[in-house]
Amino acid sequence: MRVRVSTLFILVGVSLYALIVLQAPTHGAGKLEPVGSDVTQPELALLMGDLQRLTHKLALSADAGNAELANFYMYESLEQMKKIQTEVPEYEGQPVALLMDRLGLPPYAAMQEAVNAKDKQRMLNALDAVVQSCNACHAATLHPFIRITRGTEVNPFNQSFQP
Ligand code: HEC
Repeated sequence: MRVRVSTLFILVGVSLYALIVLQAPTHGAGKLEPVGSDVTQPELALLMGDLQRLTHKLALSADAGNAELANFYMYESLEQMKKIQTEVPEYEGQPVALLMDRLGLPPYAAMQEAVNAKDKQRMLNALDAVVQSCNACHAATLHPFIRITRGTEVNPFNQSFQP
């Protein structure tokens, strides 16, 4: 009797397992994949998301007058932009790498000078130029609805930006 009961339990267990685990993938398998998506192309939005975080931290550093930290995030931003140029030179017919050279990268020269001078006001002016260039490129690439701001009103990070 004991053997039969435990056998029954195993049978019920196996059936439940089959029902839950094996049935799951048959329900609309692959439905979450966007139609015609190119899985080999790196996702530009994800790379931009990283650039947004670095820009936000650059802004918070500049706003705190922390030239050393601003210098760090400036270099990280430049690295990320070069990575974008290499990995997604074109996106939906838009010349991303070219626009990065023309619009995106130039304002970082003034940021470099401001950081070297450890001048908070110049860092903030350079930051505004950087933010404007982000938005100029979003407009140029048919994404004018993606609008970047300074975002220095509050610090959402568990990190200090004070010098
Ligand atoms: C070379 C042009 C170009 C430059 C320069 C540029 N972007 Fe973008 N960005 C784009 C394009 C194109 C998209 C839309 C990508 C998509 O459709 O997946 C985008 C999307 C975004 C997004 C939406 C993705 C998300 O995670 O929410 C953010 C945020 C963003 N960019 C931030 C920035 C910031 C910050 C800068 C400036 C430091 C910047 N971008 C500079 C072209 C650019």
